[in-house]
Amino acid sequence: MTENGHASPLVQMENVNKHFGALHVLRDINLTVSRGEVLVVIGPSGGGKSTLCRTINRLETIDAGKIVFDGQVLPDEGKALAKLRSEVGMVFQSFNLFAHKTIRENVTLGPTKVRGTAKDQADKRAMELLERVGIATQADKYPAQLSGGQQQRVAIARALAMDPKMILFDEPTSALDPEMVQEVLDVMIGLARDGMTMMVVTHEMGFARRAANRVVFMADGQIVEENTPDEFFTNAQTDRARDFLSKILTH
Ligand SMILES: Nc1ncnc2c1ncn2[C@@H]1O[C@H](COP(=O)(O)OP(=O)(O)OP(=O)(O)O)[C@@H](O)[C@H]1O
Ligand SMILES: [Mg+2]
Repeated sequence: MTENGHASPLVQMENVNKHFGALHVLRDINLTVSRGEVLVVIGPSGGGKSTLCRTINRLETIDAGKIVFDGQVLPDEGKALAKLRSEVGMVFQSFNLFAHKTIRENVTLGPTKVRGTAKDQADKRAMELLERVGIATQADKYPAQLSGGQQQRVAIARALAMDPKMILFDEPTSALDPEMVQEVLDVMIGLARDGMTMMVVTHEMGFARRAANRVVFMADGQIVEENTPDEFFTNAQTDRARDFLSKILTH
């Protein structure tokens, strides 16, 4: 808590700018994510949503501006960067599990290799997490033996195994068959209820309405609008957002 009684923000982005060559992909981004907040990022393809996420765990560097995570300016390299990466979990569209390792090993690998957690302890925790995401019975199978929805739930368990301060989700359900989307969203809704700080790039409006505290609409590298889900979906303020919503609502 700060002196005025507000919880300190977990992420503060100030005038963040990023180019890929001549392409200006993040333009003066100012964004704060509070502890325990669930932020949904929505917007047209190429608008910079993935890049925005990736700057927070420094998978992408920035050209100008400042990003503070948990009170510290993001580190450039070395141990401090490894620590940051372990504190910011990431779940991608493609599940990115290690194909030649079992589900259980996928979840214990980070804690044992990065954190130096004892194997039996990591194992116990992995089983608790697999239970939580509803796939404990699959622990000794390999990723290819699981459905997409199950693999994505493993990816979430793997992120949780590091006890992250935040998890970034980049379109976690967009590679899934439709019938598997909800089982992954249900796990994410559970995490949100448990107070996990989350930044979620998704066009799943049901999730946004049920779990998000705030929706950020991003286009052409800029935050065009941010609002509560109810306000954003029923009363978007800009033509750009209204146009985007009309497209995703009618397809
Ligand atoms: N590594 C890279 N090198 C060059 N250009 C890139 C790179 N990554 C992204 N871009 C470009 O930066 C812009 C923003 O990309 P980004 O992936 O952040 O958008 P997005 O909003 O996530 O899009 P989508 O909805 O399609 O996932 C796009 O024009 C993209 O082509
Ligand atoms: Mg993207």
